[in-house]
Amino acid sequence: MANYKVKIKGTGMYVPEKVLSNFDLEKLVDTSDQWIYERTGIKNRRICSTEGGEWPTDMALKATLDALKTAKLEPNDIDMILFGSVTPDYKLPNSATVLQTKLGITNNCAALDIAAACSGFVYGLNMAQSMIKTGMVKNVLVVGSEMLSREVNWEDRNTCILFGDGCGVAIVGRNEDNDESDVISCYLGADGTGKEFFDQPVGGAVEPITTDHLEKKNYFMQMKGKEMFKVATRTLAQNAKRVLEDAGMDLSQVDWLVPHQANVRIIETTGKLLGIEPEKVIVNIDKYANTSAATIPMAFHEAIQEGKIKRGDIVLFDAFGAGLTTGATLFRY
Ligand code: ACO
Repeated sequence: MANYKVKIKGTGMYVPEKVLSNFDLEKLVDTSDQWIYERTGIKNRRICSTEGGEWPTDMALKATLDALKTAKLEPNDIDMILFGSVTPDYKLPNSATVLQTKLGITNNCAALDIAAACSGFVYGLNMAQSMIKTGMVKNVLVVGSEMLSREVNWEDRNTCILFGDGCGVAIVGRNEDNDESDVISCYLGADGTGKEFFDQPVGGAVEPITTDHLEKKNYFMQMKGKEMFKVATRTLAQNAKRVLEDAGMDLSQVDWLVPHQANVRIIETTGKLLGIEPEKVIVNIDKYANTSAATIPMAFHEAIQEGKIKRGDIVLFDAFGAGLTTGATLFRY
């Protein structure tokens, strides 16, 4: 069987224009800029327009057009779309096919949504790399795009302060440049027993939204923050160790850790558990809050744009999310 090298050929991101600051939230719920910043590291988040033009697939379209330019590829060079999101445009059809049409792709490429919450992008990337390595596909568009502002109860201070909207994408493909870029090792996992730590039980087949639910406003995402915090730090540290061990490498060889951005204290605690220098950890949660599947591709793209992450660097993506899902990717960019 073929064993092609895999390269991230291009990245892109889009965030909505509207900025919602902690001070704006002070007007909505009983909270303060100081409380939010000290407990989470968040200052601002972006919020999609509900007038249209910034739906999850619109954000993905804008981000992908940039990624295609960097990758020097055309839309029809994409032969699979993996769309990580828990806030799809519609229940049907899936967001990946909506994006396929918006991109003008006419090659009938495969198009699949991945509902793995905050791990959605890493799930997509790891699935993409395995199919590229075996030669089944050549170029995969991996997306993390979320409009969490639709699913958040803006009267619940426990959750509404934490989330934002945004999109990050990567075009991953067969490395034909004869350079060192490759995926070195990766991991995917889940533990369904932690489902009540972060869930949204109303609105699916089991419990459709009724007028009673509308009145009680109990159809939004709900979270047990402390439990999530504990499981997140433990899981992120385990993931990093696991992919490094599989690769026969140690942390000193990693140039950059790009963790899921849920809370700056989770990121710092994970960093301490691993013993990684804080300067090697990419953090942008202050600007965008938790954008679920989009945090890792957005943080990665920004770090490239800022000249931090360079070609040849060893990068570690590390994610966890509702489900509870988790995953990590160790690669040479
Ligand atoms: N503003 C002001 N006070 C608040 C707020 C708020 N927004 N929210 C809670 N409080 C109060 C609480 O009521 C509590 O008051 P009390 O002591 O009088 O009861 C006090 O502040 C402390 O609350 P805690 O819940 O103990 O605060 P904690 O330090 O645990 O921080 C937080 C809460 C930020 C939610 C934290 O637990 C966390 O970040 N958890 C992880 C979240 C996470 O991982 N989310 C992502 C999940 S997966 C995914 O990304 C999709």
